[in-house]
Amino acid sequence: MRKLKSICSVFSVMVTFSWTAFGAESDSYDAGQAYQTTCFACHGTGQAHAPLVGDIIEWEIRLDKGIDTLVQNTINGLNGIMPARGLCTDCSNDQLRAIVEYMLEQSK
Ligand code: HEC
Repeated sequence: MRKLKSICSVFSVMVTFSWTAFGAESDSYDAGQAYQTTCFACHGTGQAHAPLVGDIIEWEIRLDKGIDTLVQNTINGLNGIMPARGLCTDCSNDQLRAIVEYMLEQSK
């Protein structure tokens, strides 16, 4: 019985893991979670004068550049104060785009 239980938990870890790996490629990627763990340190607090998520006017002005430019500046960094990839070195470009979209979604 005990053995069965441990097999079950290994199995569920595997399922969770493969679901996460799959999620990275699809809409179920949790951009909100990624935002919380990487970008929130600056964008949730205004640290280093980062534009605050939730500040409608700030993001409206930035969105004038177009979402592609915002994503590009996220990938490359901006003015030496927005770090390249927002310090999320293992985020793919698509994931960074999803996070930027999430941030914009939270700021309108
Ligand atoms: C170390 C602090 C810091 C972290 C961490 C950080 N940012 Fe930033 N970010 C900034 C600052 C500061 C700016 C403003 C740069 C400027 O306008 O000169 C900025 C600007 C931006 C912009 C606007 C770019 C533009 O063209 O106006 C986007 C989009 C952005 N960050 C996305 C992200 C994402 C996504 C993450 C997490 C993956 C992230 N940032 C993590 C500090 C940070």
